[in-house]
Amino acid sequence: MVSPKIEKALNKQIEVEAKSSQFYLAMASWADTQGFHGVSQFLYRHSDEERQHMLKLIHYVNERGGKAEIPALPKGPAKFESIQIIFKELFEHEQRVTQEINTVVDACLKEKDYTTHNFMQWYVSEQIEEEALARTILDKLALIGNDKGGLYLFDRDLASLTPDHS
Ligand code: FEO
Repeated sequence: MVSPKIEKALNKQIEVEAKSSQFYLAMASWADTQGFHGVSQFLYRHSDEERQHMLKLIHYVNERGGKAEIPALPKGPAKFESIQIIFKELFEHEQRVTQEINTVVDACLKEKDYTTHNFMQWYVSEQIEEEALARTILDKLALIGNDKGGLYLFDRDLASLTPDHS
């Protein structure tokens, strides 16, 4: 059974993952309309992954005798300045998600909820992967700079890059 405090923390995390999915979906759709089909495929997949992260939490809360709350979501941004800005925002967003996950882990330790603490370790590992991937992409974009040919190849490469390694 999850305590009310842990239930609340997990429900907040459900919202964080849902918002991530929504945010990346907006990025994917914009990239799609700008001719960046590889980037958009990558971001659509990333959005799907975030939805899976949300679902995993929903199932866990309900299985542990809590009640998962399905959050309302804000409208996603209609446009982004550039591909570089998208990945900068994605990286910063993932860093904030990591902080949120650490807050849940912290709450588990305070409440002595070792079962949920154990469950959350999957998210801790996932964040290491996601931050590393976002950093690698940003490094590539920094190398490419304003080179159109480089950006073309980058877009092509992203079509086959998988956001989730688990
Ligand atoms: Fe589910 Fe990218 O954090």
